[in-house]
Amino acid sequence: MRATVFAIIVLAFGFQTEANAQQQPTLKEAYKGCFLVGAALNPSQFSGRDPAEDALIKAQFNTISPENVLKWEIVHPRLDTYDFSLADKYVEFGQQNHMFIIGHNLVWHSQVPKWVFEDEKGAPVTRDVLLARMRDHISKVVGRYKGRISGWDVVNEALNDDGTLRPSAWKKIIGDDYIEIAFRYAHEADPQAELYYNDYSLENEAKRKGALELVKRLKAKGIAIIGVGTQGHFSLDSPTTNQVDSTIVEFGKLGVKVMITELDVDVLPWPAGGPTADVSLNMASDPKLNPYASGLPDAVQQQLSKRYADLFVTFAKHCGLVSRVTFWGVTDKESWKNNWPVRGRTDYPLLFNRDAQPKPAFGAVIQAAPKSAS
Ligand code: XIL
Repeated sequence: MRATVFAIIVLAFGFQTEANAQQQPTLKEAYKGCFLVGAALNPSQFSGRDPAEDALIKAQFNTISPENVLKWEIVHPRLDTYDFSLADKYVEFGQQNHMFIIGHNLVWHSQVPKWVFEDEKGAPVTRDVLLARMRDHISKVVGRYKGRISGWDVVNEALNDDGTLRPSAWKKIIGDDYIEIAFRYAHEADPQAELYYNDYSLENEAKRKGALELVKRLKAKGIAIIGVGTQGHFSLDSPTTNQVDSTIVEFGKLGVKVMITELDVDVLPWPAGGPTADVSLNMASDPKLNPYASGLPDAVQQQLSKRYADLFVTFAKHCGLVSRVTFWGVTDKESWKNNWPVRGRTDYPLLFNRDAQPKPAFGAVIQAAPKSAS
């Protein structure tokens, strides 16, 4: 008798939690009518190698970004060699699942092979040679996915923290107009694709000012830029939601869409001067910088949930103007933050834990959705 009652209770409770899980809306449902919600994927994810994660990605997201597979060093490793094997799989995955597919990225100073800027003797190429290489790359890559990749990060991270142009090889060899030329080539390759400028730390006054000026200059020249990606590699307390809010408003005033393109929230201590997303940083390991290797304390878990709720309330204040929010990864397990800016740490920056289960921050993001959104 006792065992039967116990079984009934267990069954009822089991059904109830399952029903609750089913009732819980997904991210894409909760923000429907407000903005798309996405994640950056790597090959194991878009090949569906892990069934639990595969189901999660299909259920939660309606847009995807390629974490690495469309970067120059992967699709165009040598002068006459393009390799689209991984990128093709990424795009097929997006198409099969009716997702808004993002291309990331065409022109960046990082993850681009040295040969791009050099002749056979290792000397810098001329402006004309580099422009020809840039055009060939953009026309082949954008052209291949014409009509399938809907939005491109054309130029990534062209600015310094003080808002001036970063002295990349692109700028040094071509000149300041490399940015507008990259947009022209992308538009020529797929006139329907949405074209974006993407960068980090745009919440900081000086860099934001530089980016606003850049967008104004591009628009004044008739360049087809339709959106700005603010990457969103944040920490628990920086930038403030006021800074995030005014960044969205300021770009909105220029008539461009605003996207949060690489969202994650770092819970680990910043060695110095963070948060930033300057990929050239490589800081020495130190156990003090890896305090949660055996688990995230409850108090920090709650701080993370509150931070995510505040961020999504801020994004959702600008439904429509903010057209997309994309997380830089799916679960904490594969996040790039475990290895950057310090290698081998245990970070907890996303909404799903190492077993692909929703964290409290997931519930907080769902709760933060405007009631009219879905
Ligand atoms: C990162 C990837 O997540 C890593 O796997 C890779 O090793 C380095 O690049 N800004 C960007 C992204 O625009 O492309 C970067 O992605 C993170 C910072």
